[in-house]
Amino acid sequence: MADLTDPGSRGFEFDDGDAFFAGFVVRHGNAVAGFVDYCPHAGWRLSPRGNFLNRAKDGILCTGHRAEFDFDGLGTVGKCIGLSLTPWPVTVIEGMVVTA
Ligand code: FES
Repeated sequence: MADLTDPGSRGFEFDDGDAFFAGFVVRHGNAVAGFVDYCPHAGWRLSPRGNFLNRAKDGILCTGHRAEFDFDGLGTVGKCIGLSLTPWPVTVIEGMVVTA
């Protein structure tokens, strides 16, 4: 948690042989949520630069076509209204963001 600003975001990539996963976490207050880095509009990754928040830092931005999502991953602006990001289950244990 100490490495995440409030609000803030951070991307992660994991690979194992041919398997690859890209995801990100967003912090908003003491809440942290994780999502697969995959836009439901065109299937592109949301941010090539690793910042997943919009300019006001009150939502998640896809830089592909400027769609925005709330912190629950629901599309609120642009081409993704009504669509949802794919959750990546994360939780905070003793100040660390962890996933299974
Ligand atoms: S690829 Fe994300 S809004 Fe189009």
